Amino acid sequence: MSSRGPSKLETPLTRMFGVRAPILVGPMTAVSEVSLVVAAAEAGIFAGLPPHNFRDVAAFRAALREIRARTRGPFAVNLIVNRANVLLSRQLEAALEAETPIFVTSLGDPSDVIRRAHAAGAKVVCDVSTLEHGLRVKDAGADALNAVVAGAGGHAGHVSAFALVPSLVDRVGLPVVCAGGVVDGRGLAAALALGAAGVQMGTRFIASAECAAPQGWKDAIVSATTDDVVLTERLSGVMGSYLKTPDLERQMRAMPAPVRALLRHPRTKSTTRKLMLLIASRRMDAVRRGERALYSAGQSSDMVHDVAPVAEIVDRILREYRDVVGDLASGA
Ligand SMILES: Cc1cc2nc3c(=O)[nH]c(=O)nc-3n(C[C@H](O)[C@H](O)[C@H](O)COP(=O)(O)O)c2cc1C
Repeated sequence: MSSRGPSKLETPLTRMFGVRAPILVGPMTAVSEVSLVVAAAEAGIFAGLPPHNFRDVAAFRAALREIRARTRGPFAVNLIVNRANVLLSRQLEAALEAETPIFVTSLGDPSDVIRRAHAAGAKVVCDVSTLEHGLRVKDAGADALNAVVAGAGGHAGHVSAFALVPSLVDRVGLPVVCAGGVVDGRGLAAALALGAAGVQMGTRFIASAECAAPQGWKDAIVSATTDDVVLTERLSGVMGSYLKTPDLERQMRAMPAPVRALLRHPRTKSTTRKLMLLIASRRMDAVRRGERALYSAGQSSDMVHDVAPVAEIVDRILREYRDVVGDLASGA
């Protein structure tokens, strides 16, 4: 076995986006900034940039200009397409002006974004966590689906990758990206075996050299086991995956019973969630400054053992993928 792996791996996804490996660096609230997006593009893959990580649309525009100046590679803009995102049309405008080649949509109805992105020649990948949503975004014209599966970092899905990926592949008929639980070549091989055309990874790339997340977040991922990952809605009102820390445990105890009741009641649930998301985004500013240890990460944290440069992570995954597939074929 040579220590240099294959330099590329082709799937329908790599052909759609002109990248060398079917690996997307997922957009991450409080984490993804210009440095990670540029590093991914230079490593021959691409990363998503969430406009909501910037203090305003002007700062987001400046970030897009910087990306354009630092790399010729592709990148994606992540748009939250539900009604709570009052900045959506300005974010979309800024992204289209910067000739963004790929959009990743989260939550809600992406129809308008798809129409405008297609008119500008861009592609759209839509986050879905159910078959029904997958079928709806196909009708709206999505180019590919991000299957947000159970165990993922961020706001995880509730269906296992083993069920959701093949279900979307068989019944929707668009390229499917397995978003969640993958950090290495074993995971990539498993996702492709399920019929996925690629993977979207978040947790592994938080623990990358070019990621702007505080060192404490990276260290927490490197030292975590699966037992350290908890699912809770007590931070943002939406079920999310976090690493156990004393700050998280304090925060979880802090949610008063009346708020829990408001979150359960069908008539107050949605407004309570919106308010909690707003409070959570303020809290994340303190996390970014390294002042509070509230770290979202997926169950795959257990398999992350170091902080490494993005290009090295991609090379390693391709090498491991080739070895796993070879071992499976030879029955080793
Ligand atoms: C800290 C964190 C923040 C995230 N924020 C977003 C986001 O703003 N928009 C989005 O579409 N996905 C978001 N995600 C999901 C990731 O893009 C990606 O799909 C997920 O991390 C994949 O699962 P993994 O962490 O097991 O690799 C986030 C994930 C993490 C860990």
